[in-house]
Amino acid sequence: MGIPQPTFYIFKCEQSAPPGMPKPSCVTPDNKDLYQYTAKKLMMEGVMMAAPIVRTSCMNRCQQGPVMLIEPGHTMYVGLTEEKIDRIITEHIIGGNVVQEYVIAEEAWDAPMSIADARKLMGK
Ligand code: FES
Repeated sequence: MGIPQPTFYIFKCEQSAPPGMPKPSCVTPDNKDLYQYTAKKLMMEGVMMAAPIVRTSCMNRCQQGPVMLIEPGHTMYVGLTEEKIDRIITEHIIGGNVVQEYVIAEEAWDAPMSIADARKLMGK
């Protein structure tokens, strides 16, 4: 018997920027504990094995940070707070329903780019 796959992977951007950097980043002194908050909540709900959280670097949606991507589904949640994370875990991870009001706007999260288009863009 193998090791079961998770149902979801939760990718949390953990990029921070040095003071004075003009570009925003997802992790600031005000929200630096959101990763630990999310991990603790997943453990308390008993879903960490089925929905592990993974630290990532920038996912290029810094203006909307803090952000988190849930796979499968390519669901990008933005402007995260503890209250939003509570709802995302309850409704999306446990309930299976995307929390639409926290999903990134379509103009900032268009359809996935194909591998062929990416290669073409890079001259391959
Ligand atoms: S710093 Fe988080 S998406 Fe860029």
